[in-house]
Amino acid sequence: MCGIAGYIGKNQAAPIILDGLSRLEYRGYDSAGIAVFDGERIRMAKAAGRLSVLKELTDNGRALPGCCGIGHTRWATHGRPCDENAHPHMNRENTIAVVHNGIIENYRKLREKLERKGYVFSSETDTEVLAHMLTEYYRGDPVEAIEKVLHRVEGSYALGILFLDHPHHIYAARRDSPLVVGVSGEEKFIASDVPALLEHTRTVYYMENEEIATLSAGNIRFYSLDGELLSKKPVTVEWDISAAQKGGYAHFMLKEIHEQPSALRDTIFPRLKDRRIDLDDLGLSEEKIRRLRRISIVACGSAYHAAVVGKYVLEALARIPVETDLASEYRYRCPICEPDSLVIIVSQSGETADSLAALRDAKARGSRILAIVNVVGSSIAREADCVFYTGAGPEISVATTKAYSCQLAAFYMLAAEFARVRGAIGADRFCGLLAALKRLPAQVRELLGCQEKIQFLANRYLAADHIFFMGRGIDYAISLEGSLKLKEISYIHSEAYAAGELKHGTISLIEEQTPVVAVATSDRLYPKTLSNIVEVKTRGAMVLALTTPGHEDLARTADYVLFVPETEPLFMGSLSIIPLQLFAYYVSLGRGLDVDKPRNLAKSVTVE
Ligand code: AGP
Repeated sequence: MCGIAGYIGKNQAAPIILDGLSRLEYRGYDSAGIAVFDGERIRMAKAAGRLSVLKELTDNGRALPGCCGIGHTRWATHGRPCDENAHPHMNRENTIAVVHNGIIENYRKLREKLERKGYVFSSETDTEVLAHMLTEYYRGDPVEAIEKVLHRVEGSYALGILFLDHPHHIYAARRDSPLVVGVSGEEKFIASDVPALLEHTRTVYYMENEEIATLSAGNIRFYSLDGELLSKKPVTVEWDISAAQKGGYAHFMLKEIHEQPSALRDTIFPRLKDRRIDLDDLGLSEEKIRRLRRISIVACGSAYHAAVVGKYVLEALARIPVETDLASEYRYRCPICEPDSLVIIVSQSGETADSLAALRDAKARGSRILAIVNVVGSSIAREADCVFYTGAGPEISVATTKAYSCQLAAFYMLAAEFARVRGAIGADRFCGLLAALKRLPAQVRELLGCQEKIQFLANRYLAADHIFFMGRGIDYAISLEGSLKLKEISYIHSEAYAAGELKHGTISLIEEQTPVVAVATSDRLYPKTLSNIVEVKTRGAMVLALTTPGHEDLARTADYVLFVPETEPLFMGSLSIIPLQLFAYYVSLGRGLDVDKPRNLAKSVTVE
C-alpha cells in the first residue's frame, strides 16, 4: 500500500509533494522518491529508508526546482527495499517517469516481451514495466499511450506519470488502488489518499476504476480507458487528517478488517495460473516438493493460529505430516530436524524475536526455512531460504486481521500446489480449490455486511468476565484466533477449546449465563459440535453460534446464530473469522477501550 502525491501549480512542487507524502506515513513504507520537471528535464531523486532520508537528500525539496512533479513512498511488494527499486521509475531516455501503487499481476510476461525488444531494466519491480511500455506505445499523445498500456496490464494500479514532451501536465490512472485528484484554483494535486491533500484543499475528485486524468494548471480532464471524455463532479471532504488516515473508519482495525477483500485479492490472484499455483519465487522445485517428508510450522500469537489452520489444510490436501510449534517453545525442546523437512516461520512483522530465534535454531539444525511474512526485507524474510510474501499491505492496528487472513490464504495455496505436485489430488479437485480461492475475496466482502448485527450482539457481552470459544477441526483453529482477538483488545478473559475437550475438565466452569461462542461451520463435524453445544446449554451457558446455511436447527439450541456463506470446507476459516474479528472490535469499542493500541501490547514483539 504505497503513497502517491503529485502537484502542479504556481508554487515549487517538491516541498508540497514531500509534505503530502509525510501525511501518508501511516501507510507504511521502506523507500521514497520524487520526480520534478525543472523547465528543461525531469529530475529525480529517490532513496531507501524513511522519508527523512529523501528530504535530507533533496534539502527538503529545494534541490529539485520546478512547479510540476510526482512523488512516492513505497511499501515493497516486488523487490527488496533499495534505491533502485524505489519509485519513480523512468525509461532509459528519461522522458517518462512513473509512480505506482498496486500490483501488476502479469508483469513478468510483460517484462520478458520488453526485454526481447531490447529494453533494459534497472530494478526488480513490477512498476518499471510501465515506464518501458509507455515508451513503447508513446507516439506523441500521452493519453493514447496510457490507454494502450493499461489495456494490456492485469492487476491493480494507481498511477502518476510525467511526460517530458508535456512538461506542464500530470497524468493519472487507477484500477482497484485508490487515487484522488485535488483542486485549489490553478493548483492541482493527485494523491493515493486524502490526507496528502487536506493541507491545500478539501475539493477532490475520487477517481473510479479504469479512469485516466490529465491535470494542468488550467484544467482537469477525465477519460475512460477507451478515450471517452468523462464528466465528474468534485466532492468536499469533511474529514480531519486523523479520520482521513483511517479512510473514514473510526479505527485502523476496522479499516483493516474491511481491507481484507483487497488484501486477499492481492495475495491470491497474482499466483493463480491456469493449471498451477505459481510458487516460482519461493525456489521450491517440484522435485523438492515431492521429496518433502515433514513440515514444521513455527510462529507466535495469531500467526501461530494461522499455523494451526495450515496444519489441517496441508495434511488434508498434501498428505505431508505437519507439526506446529509456538516459537517461544520450539527452540527449547531440542527439535528434530531431518533432511527433506521444511520449517515454515509465519510472522506478519517479520521481526518477532521468538520467531526469528526459532528460524535461526532450525537453520542451524539443517532445515530449509520458508517464511510467510508481510513486511518485505524484514529480518525473518532476509534470513529465510525462501519467502512467501502476503499482500496485506501495512497493518497498523496491534490486533492483526488482514495479515492473518492473508496467512491463511498462503497456506491454502501452498497446500493445494504441494498436493497437485505430489499427486495427492487430481485435476478436478485442484481446479475446485482454485475456484474457491478466487471466490474468497468476494465472499469476505459479502460477509462484512453482517457488521451491524455483530455490533448489536457484541453489546450484550460488554459486562462479561469470561467468554469461551469452542469448535472442532478448523473451527477449533478459528476459535483460537477469535478468542485471542477478543481478549487482547477487550481485556475480557477468554479461552478457546477443542469442543470435544471441554468435557475433560473445563466444562466444570460453565454455569448459568456463561457466554460461549461455538464455531460450527464444518458439515462433517456439525453433529458432534452440536452435541457439545447442548452440553454447555444444559449447564446454563449463553451460546452464540456460527454456522452455515442448512443448519437452521441450531436456532432451537443456541441463543444467537450467525450464518456464514459456504465455501471449500478447508477454506471456511477465512469466512468464519470475519464475524469474530468484528465481535472483538465491537466489544472493545463498547467497553470504551483503545482498540488500535491495547494496553501492554506492541505491534511487533522484538523481545523474547
Ligand atoms: C495478534 O493480534 C497479536 N498482535 C499477536 O499475537 C501477533 O500475532 C504476534 O505477536 C505475532 O506477530 P508477528 O506475526 O508479527 O510475528
